[in-house]
Amino acid sequence: MDFRLKVVGLAERVKGLRYMNKSKSLVNVELHFAFGKNWAEYAEKVTEAEIAEAERGLQRLLAQDRLDGLSFLDIGCGSGIHSLAAIRLGARKVFAVDLDADSVHTTQALLKRHVPSGGWSVKEISVFDLDPDRHGAYEVVYSWGVLHHTGAMVDAIESAARMVAPGGRFVFALYRRVWMDFFWCWEKRWYSKASPAVQRIVQAIYIWFYRFALWVTGRNFKKYVENYSSNRGMDFYHDVHDWLGGYPYESILPQEVDLLMQKLGFSRERVFARQGRFFGRSTGLFGSGCDEYVYRKD
Ligand SMILES: C[S@@+](CC[C@H](N)C(=O)[O-])C[C@H]1O[C@@H](n2cnc3c(N)ncnc32)[C@H](O)[C@@H]1O
Repeated sequence: MDFRLKVVGLAERVKGLRYMNKSKSLVNVELHFAFGKNWAEYAEKVTEAEIAEAERGLQRLLAQDRLDGLSFLDIGCGSGIHSLAAIRLGARKVFAVDLDADSVHTTQALLKRHVPSGGWSVKEISVFDLDPDRHGAYEVVYSWGVLHHTGAMVDAIESAARMVAPGGRFVFALYRRVWMDFFWCWEKRWYSKASPAVQRIVQAIYIWFYRFALWVTGRNFKKYVENYSSNRGMDFYHDVHDWLGGYPYESILPQEVDLLMQKLGFSRERVFARQGRFFGRSTGLFGSGCDEYVYRKD
């Protein structure tokens, strides 16, 4: 690792962990962005190609083609598409949870439509209320893009990690830290409380700049949006709304994740992280993007 990055990483670790824990009051759901409404709209139109893409996403993270016989807990299931993908890949017992009632209903509707035979359950539970004695421990605990939206990311990671069975895997994705984190945190808090009309205007402005940036770098916006489902089965426009409004918001460096996971008794299996060009971080002009982590419980 580059020496400068090491220094920045250490400073961040101290500063960052304080930043990460300061928003505990935000676990209050009333202050959260209405994720579920966005997912409800998306899930109505989810296509076979998007489900297949979600399957490929799971296969890539777990580095295996099938999940036959594995128990699977999906924390912060959102649209339910990844629970569905896990079932289609052979997971034996799928439990999907979300804090947002709309996400729960959307996941239930999606799974009922695609897997009427059952073998899955969906419940409205916060990650903080999960308990291995009551809900069981799972061979795969999956939480993509969730724990940084809980208002207390480190506590949420610890709580989710407790649900992993011995020898099982914890698969999660978290926003990487960028230089513009403070701006995005402010923007999301404001946007998540703005009226739908104002949100639509902000989306249009964001998309206009995005389009401009693609044009400057010689890429075609239409093609970009068409191929966007290659990004884990989500579509571009729902992801834009999710990005602009996803509040509470926290971010983390891979070094910090590693430190925490070691402390919790996990070993790194694989990490898909992008390193920024400015002292190990990107500017975050259009957002931060998620780094993906797979850890195994020792
Ligand atoms: C950005 S979405 C990600 C959804 C899904 N995992 C995916 O990859 O598409 C974040 C989800 O986390 C849920 N969430 C936020 N705080 C939560 C908490 N404390 N416990 C469980 N779910 C939570 C939100 O309701 C939302 O559905």
